[in-house]
Amino acid sequence: MNKADSQTNRVSRRALAAPPFLAMKILDRCRKLEAQGHHIVHLELGEPDFPTPDNVVQAGLKAINDGFTSYTPTQGLLALRETIAHCYHTEYGVEIDPDRIIVTMGSSPAMFLIFGALLNPGEEVIIPNPHYPPYPSNISFLGGVPVKTALSEMTGFQYDIDEVRAKITSLTKGIMVNSPSNPTGMLQGDEVMRGLAELIEESGIYIISDEIYHGLTYGVKARSILEFTGRTFVMSGLSKRFAMTGWRLGWLIAPEEFIEPMKNIHMNYFLSASGFVQMAGIEAINQCRQQAEEMRDIYQKRRDYLIPELRRLGFGMETEPQGAFYLLINAKRYDTDSVRLANRLLQEAHVAVTPGAEFGSQAEGYLRISYAASLPDLKEAVNRLEKWIDSEKRG
Ligand SMILES: Cc1ncc(COP(=O)(O)O)c(C=O)c1O
Repeated sequence: MNKADSQTNRVSRRALAAPPFLAMKILDRCRKLEAQGHHIVHLELGEPDFPTPDNVVQAGLKAINDGFTSYTPTQGLLALRETIAHCYHTEYGVEIDPDRIIVTMGSSPAMFLIFGALLNPGEEVIIPNPHYPPYPSNISFLGGVPVKTALSEMTGFQYDIDEVRAKITSLTKGIMVNSPSNPTGMLQGDEVMRGLAELIEESGIYIISDEIYHGLTYGVKARSILEFTGRTFVMSGLSKRFAMTGWRLGWLIAPEEFIEPMKNIHMNYFLSASGFVQMAGIEAINQCRQQAEEMRDIYQKRRDYLIPELRRLGFGMETEPQGAFYLLINAKRYDTDSVRLANRLLQEAHVAVTPGAEFGSQAEGYLRISYAASLPDLKEAVNRLEKWIDSEKRG
């Protein structure tokens, strides 16, 4: 192949710079092992293992039959935006004008719209490390610069306000908050949220708050950033709380002056979320509180089982995570290279986990365990890990 034909010359640098999820590579390896007849316990998946509540499915089917099959206004159906605004009022006591909400196909496009509307080339967003992988990818793809701030296991992966302040430059546009977090499962404390809100007010920048795991907390309630400041963009959706990942329904809430430009970006790149999915979303938010709480209680039982078991096996967890369905466990005593360790656990113990390296340098040496898996599966995983560790000890 001559130089002009090489892939790097044809595909844009921007596209080539977008990294694939390591978790997908793990999943490919799982599929190969499964095709060879091996049974794999899946603790690498970041999506609920429950089906979507039946009344939501029925509402979606009814909406198709009722003809909600055309484009909707790019901002989303008013009825859904009113439902979302009402939900923020009852859950967090904040008043949100439905006109400040844009309905998107999951929260992922909401992130694209937020960074697209906020960043000029070279402008910076402070993000946590560890972090959900698409934060830096989206920021870079849209011409911005992700500025990582190390969060430590020793402080329960909390932002240190002074460290964040020290990262703010004339190019900083925002600070990313993800509480509860993927991959740590930790919530930022009220003091941190208040400190960040004060910091951005005094610096004239914004908070971008990813609240996709709200509703999945154990013994505590997640606070919305909207309770602390109005200088904020919120992205959220129904994927996790209502087991609706494949429906692709989310939203953003933005300061008023950003709404028209964001609607224009949405119109150009995504048009609208589908109408029948939006109708199903109204049903989920209005009628599925109880089912959502039942799913949450099951996650909590799994978490309560896993934390002591993983600690017994020698994995480190300074603070117990109280949200999402993840545990980020310190595995350095077994291997400081998380990719190598995750590969070995898959090949030798047939347990699939996500290597911490996926989530930034601060998570190297850690493994992300998802407990969006049944209790019998979790028990089987613990047995397999225990046997693997015993055989390692025997050398
Ligand atoms: C932290 C975080 N934000 C956003 C998303 C995207 O979710 P969706 O696009 O399904 O709303 C995910 C999915 O795993 C996530 O973990």
